[in-house]
Amino acid sequence: MEGELLPPERALVPVLDRGFLYGDSVYEVVRTYGGRPFEIDRHLARMEATARRIDLTLPARDTLLRELQRTLEAAGNAESYARIVVTRGIGEFGLSPFLARGENRLVIIVRPLQAPPEEQYERGLRMAIARTRRIPPQALDPALKTGNYLNNILAVRETQEAGADDAILLDLQGLVTEGSTSNVFFVQRGVLVTPPLSLGMLEGVTRGIFIGLAREEGLLLREEPHGPEALAAADEVFMTSTLREAMPVTSLVFLESPGDQVRLVAGGKPGPVARRLRAAFRSYVERTHLRR
Ligand code: PDD
Repeated sequence: MEGELLPPERALVPVLDRGFLYGDSVYEVVRTYGGRPFEIDRHLARMEATARRIDLTLPARDTLLRELQRTLEAAGNAESYARIVVTRGIGEFGLSPFLARGENRLVIIVRPLQAPPEEQYERGLRMAIARTRRIPPQALDPALKTGNYLNNILAVRETQEAGADDAILLDLQGLVTEGSTSNVFFVQRGVLVTPPLSLGMLEGVTRGIFIGLAREEGLLLREEPHGPEALAAADEVFMTSTLREAMPVTSLVFLESPGDQVRLVAGGKPGPVARRLRAAFRSYVERTHLRR
């Protein structure tokens, strides 16, 4: 915190911090492979883009990199989860960002990585189609990775009450956007499909990598809007994120249908495309990151 290395229980944010009060902050989640943060440049570029759009000044990129490195080293985990947070700092009450005194607060949280167990990739996820709709880009652009996650939290809560693992959110028109903390892909008649960014979603770093890998693998890929019925009818569905890589979805719960209807995806079995692309992803990590 602010350059000081502390155990989590002593790392406290003052109550007047605008990140605490209003979610007036930006953040990124990165993970390490081989002990080093993966795709850190893409994550920091996205953080800078978000910061620009909410008019928040970030520490210089080399400061962020140095502090991240120092925190990772102090934690000494084999592999780490790292969350980089910059809030607009302290100010008197009031929404105006000009009340902040201009001292933004940098917090880096490092924890031992808890990646999904391999058996989860065999079982797949049960995702619920949430009733809560993704905030439209005209209200609070979901492309911004800010500390304001209540939209996603409400969707997750609703889906877990229905016994599902996680939520997929639709936009106001009923089109599939993304998961609560991941992007969605599906296979339809041999074509890999993912919703277009223009619907309003976070541009996942992992999404970008998988799009590139799919093309390298010679798969047909379309960025195309679809309703949730297309997911239920797909040959396979999977979610991508920093922590999940590519995680199969084997069933869907439709929370808006009577009795929370459950639909199996491809008979409830993970599919070959997710498996193949995850293997391609692993070799991408190997060749672009571990061997450098
Ligand atoms: N979440 N969509 C949302 C809303 C997200 O919060 C995330 C990431 C993603 C996937 O992005 P990426 O591939 O860059 O991880 C999509 C992180 C993991 C989190 O908040 O924990």
